[in-house]
Amino acid sequence: MKPIILSLFMPLPLLEEFQTLMDGEIVRLDYRHFPDGETYIKIIGELNNRDVIIFDTLFHPDTKTLPLLLLAETARDLRANRIGLACPYLPYMRQDARFQPGEGITSAYFGKILSNTFDWLVTVDPHLHRRSSLDEIYTIPSQVVHASSTIGAWVGQNIEQPIYIGPDEESEQWVADIAKRANVPYVILKKTRLSDHDVSIQFPDFTPFLNYTPVLVDDIISTAKTMITTVNHLAALSMKPPVCIGVHGVFANGAYEALIATKVSKIVTCNTIPHPTNAIDILPSLVEGILKVI
Ligand code: R5P
Repeated sequence: MKPIILSLFMPLPLLEEFQTLMDGEIVRLDYRHFPDGETYIKIIGELNNRDVIIFDTLFHPDTKTLPLLLLAETARDLRANRIGLACPYLPYMRQDARFQPGEGITSAYFGKILSNTFDWLVTVDPHLHRRSSLDEIYTIPSQVVHASSTIGAWVGQNIEQPIYIGPDEESEQWVADIAKRANVPYVILKKTRLSDHDVSIQFPDFTPFLNYTPVLVDDIISTAKTMITTVNHLAALSMKPPVCIGVHGVFANGAYEALIATKVSKIVTCNTIPHPTNAIDILPSLVEGILKVI
């Protein structure tokens, strides 16, 4: 029996591509808000003990999470069998420690909330830095899909003589993997985050790479300050205009406009978050991950 696919927020083209790859059946929803702002949800079809996949990506998570949980509860109440979450961008992963006394470790709390409602989770490159696995904070079966080989294929087809640059130590897991597969050079920078909107980065000597095209790869582009600081430094060294690649183009307010105003040659993201920069299709890999879980 085909799985049923439900989605609150995904744009139709992504939803239809997902349905085709998954060979699932989309069941429509009536999703709106009551005049007081509370969520109204109606599932327009029978669930009849069928497996349900909720396909939604959770950038701007605070407005999406409660409706998502209410949808999953509605599906369970209407006799769905297993209910999984296919979530290309998993939020709340960066607050993975108590950096200052009194702070909440919200990645763990968010993991607990989703684990209480869903039967499984599949996502793309969650920000695993101080944690080695989602299993440390999610109690449901989960599958992590990696974007590195898809990004590497895109770079191979589109960029001549690349040098990969990872803007911080966390990015090494993607950058080293992509560069080693393609047998091209890579450099990992040292970043210190000074505040939400400010970073300082230490740069090595780039003289041997002046004829290369810098390809910056990071998991998340949020304020874009990490990318902007790196692009500005490379421009000051008269390197070729770099290509900036993000797995997840979150692009906080004004970030995209600020990045595009630098000496960047191209900004490219995976389609984990719908954005005009989406050029790398990660859905086939996402579906492979789901098939492993279900
Ligand atoms: C940080 O740990 C991540 O890997 C990214 O480098 C970070 O999220 C980028 O943030 P921003 O775009 O705000 O500099």
